[in-house]
Amino acid sequence: MRMILSENRFPLFGIMRGASCTIVGFMTVAVRLPRRKKADNTPDPADLLSWYDRHRRVLPWRARAAERADPYGVWLSEIMLQQTTVKTVGPYYARFLERWPTVGALAASKLDDVLRAWAGLGYYARARNLHACAKAVVERHGGVFPNSIEALRALPGIGDYTAAALAAIAFDAPAVPVDGNVERVVARLFAVEEKLPAAKPAIKRLAASLLPASRAGDFAQALMDLGATVCSPKRPACALCPWSEVCVARALGRQEEFPRKAPKREGKLRRGAAFVALRADGRVLLRKRPSSGLLGAMTEVPGSEWAHDFDVASALKAAPRLGAKWRKLPGVVSHVFTHFPLELDVYLAQLPRATKAPKGARWARRATLSSEALPNVMRKVIAHALN
Ligand code: ADE
Repeated sequence: MRMILSENRFPLFGIMRGASCTIVGFMTVAVRLPRRKKADNTPDPADLLSWYDRHRRVLPWRARAAERADPYGVWLSEIMLQQTTVKTVGPYYARFLERWPTVGALAASKLDDVLRAWAGLGYYARARNLHACAKAVVERHGGVFPNSIEALRALPGIGDYTAAALAAIAFDAPAVPVDGNVERVVARLFAVEEKLPAAKPAIKRLAASLLPASRAGDFAQALMDLGATVCSPKRPACALCPWSEVCVARALGRQEEFPRKAPKREGKLRRGAAFVALRADGRVLLRKRPSSGLLGAMTEVPGSEWAHDFDVASALKAAPRLGAKWRKLPGVVSHVFTHFPLELDVYLAQLPRATKAPKGARWARRATLSSEALPNVMRKVIAHALN
């Protein structure tokens, strides 16, 4: 077997794997150790797990080494982390846990409170499903998360990825969750030439083939950490990777080419108008969006439909009936949703303090807008008009 040498720092009398040197004394030394390699030259999960034991990230929802994570915290973090960065999720996760420390507490809350606390995290269907899922865990499972993939998968908002992540991390069940980071690691390890999204089933199969006989939860989190910190989309730090010697993409010198992706179909631009009505007492007119569909049940300023063929000339027809003089502000607010980019013209009107809210709308204090369930696009609109 070819010996692969890697440098490790060890305190003397620490764990030494096949070291071939004799060391005398009490100090930390750097030794060159042979790295074990599977005979068939395939990735050894043990190498990733020992890398994880040394380099695991400390994250608020993550249990300490050798401890089991709370399923509620794992579930909450996994839902929040979909399409959102670890850095953004941190404060939201802390606020949710403080306010709703158990799945039962969350199930007993009002959806509007959850949407308000979620505002800013985006992809609001996740928040509606979060609430529905908490209720289902209470109703179907007595407030205890089930530990089987099938029962988890049957809950609202829990897809293949979340079921696998929750089963592995919270229950150490033999599952490998495959998110974008893991997809990248696996596509590079095996140099998967097929393009995404068609390659997803093949990548899932390859990921499952790596599953170790024990420590499924640590293995899942190790894959996530490797993807996030070493096997990055651009300029991966291959020199630090525990699998660098068995990575096919690296051997080919083509790490950054994987995963290969089919060209994205850009959504067509939609346009519309948003109306910011400001009353003399500093209140802003708000209304609630319909409960299903894009940004369902979230709060917004009144506005027009968002359409490809939006007609600027007739925008004012969509303004709320206040008898106001609307002023079109210079510039537009741009926002990108998953399926389409949006540009909004913003109109502003100042109104006397006695002005009544039209049906379905209400006046909200400007000072408390930050605690309203306003999605990011609406926060941009209000900032455009009032800042
Ligand atoms: N991304 C998604 N889930 C994660 C987790 N549990 N730990 C770190 N990053 C993640």
